Amino acid sequence: MKDLMRMKTSLKEEIENILNEQVKMEAHASAKYLAMASWCDRNGYENSADYFFKQSEEEREHMLKIFKYISDMGGTAISPEVTKVPNDFDSFRGVFEQALESEISVSQSINRIIDACRKNHDYMTEKFMHWFLQEQIEEEYVARRAVELFDVIGEEGVGRFMIDKQVIEIKYSAE
Ligand code: FEO
Repeated sequence: MKDLMRMKTSLKEEIENILNEQVKMEAHASAKYLAMASWCDRNGYENSADYFFKQSEEEREHMLKIFKYISDMGGTAISPEVTKVPNDFDSFRGVFEQALESEISVSQSINRIIDACRKNHDYMTEKFMHWFLQEQIEEEYVARRAVELFDVIGEEGVGRFMIDKQVIEIKYSAE
């Protein structure tokens, strides 16, 4: 029966599973960015809160894009369970460092999907994933520049206020 079901889709089981894992990862990233937005807001970093709200929305878009692709290809898209979302962070800088780490993990995960596509000769999914490669170049760039602000401006005096002002500029200029 399962094999018969699989005839409805050209997605191999490994690819469908790895794409559903990515749906979960994007959903988790969206939830984590929302938590970061909340932390920034309650600590007085309004622009950074906006930055993370925007990031959260983008991650949800990424999630939906993959979710819809699985469905469009006749696969079974699984609505993700999102657990273990951190809601507290050690410091302003720490929030941005975690965001960069998160983006690097996503890039590695996208690379693994492309590896799996090649192994399974699934060139359609590989082509679909190229959009995400491009997106990760931008996402990593923005996240890295944001962390660099902490070294360039420094956190002393009005430093954090200046960083908060600049961070949203980086986001807008990359769009
Ligand atoms: Fe969808 Fe920022 O990775």
